Amino acid sequence: RKDLLGLRQLSAEEIKLVLDTAVPMKEIIGRKIKKTPTLRGRSMATLFYENSTRTRTSFELAAKFLSADTVGLSASSSSVMKGESLRDTGLTLDAMGVDVVVIRHPASGAAEFLAGCIPAAVINAGDGTHEHPTQALLDMFTIREKKGTLAGLKVAIVGDILHSRVARSNIWGLTKMGAEVRVTGPATLMPPDIEQMGARVYTDTDAALEGVDVVNVLRIQLERQQQGLFPSLREYSKLFGINQRRLELTAPDAIVIHPGPINRGVEIDAQVAYGSRSLITRQVTNGVAVRMAILYLLTGGETNAIPH
Ligand code: CP
Repeated sequence: RKDLLGLRQLSAEEIKLVLDTAVPMKEIIGRKIKKTPTLRGRSMATLFYENSTRTRTSFELAAKFLSADTVGLSASSSSVMKGESLRDTGLTLDAMGVDVVVIRHPASGAAEFLAGCIPAAVINAGDGTHEHPTQALLDMFTIREKKGTLAGLKVAIVGDILHSRVARSNIWGLTKMGAEVRVTGPATLMPPDIEQMGARVYTDTDAALEGVDVVNVLRIQLERQQQGLFPSLREYSKLFGINQRRLELTAPDAIVIHPGPINRGVEIDAQVAYGSRSLITRQVTNGVAVRMAILYLLTGGETNAIPH
């Protein structure tokens, strides 16, 4: 494959390859001297039209740990502000010899559009409400690392499903890997087509959480609400927020994940976010390993050549 645009297009074998490749990459992160020469001579540009802390920083670190050269471009400080189109911005980066472009954009389909414009590999770091494939891959890596498998697990995705590219990528990925996916949240934030993707919709959040192995809590995307938030934040927290009482409905060894950033006290209580079941900081570490694996595989790496 030239690009990573979404998990809808990936097979279970391809997802497994990324997760397996990330295992030795995580060992590199744990070392005192993290740099390996694997991608020396390659270059990666991050092209972000929306804000980011985790995705952008972890891609930059992942590339640096593999000795690739990196450059970061924010729409707000680039010639995009002078009206330069996405196509022309991509062609400009390509003309400078960039091998990989990591793009985040508010429009669904922007990554696919860019991939059709330039020969460089394009990685979708989140496009509108469409997909955030590297987030779902790191979520699956984290779940598999803790549980040993994905097949047969029950996963509840809770919150603002309508605006969530994380939810969509997780549903595509987890169902391909044999997990049962339940989604729950306000009816006003539930897209009508979600069951066609393979997830089961629960209107009662407590019922959705009953016996699940994983709770994936989503952020309320306040910046994407078009007609104000309904229910209000206070109502949301009461009806759908993940707190200690709701956690007790899950399996005794259930884990809690969240893509971040969190609205503490809204979709998740501090007690749960920082409690013993939470793997939120582990997700961040794993994000670097998974992005190292993706960069490695897209630039032609063979799995038997991973540095040990
Ligand atoms: N989870 C996620 O995409 O976080 P950032 O917006 O900080 O990159």
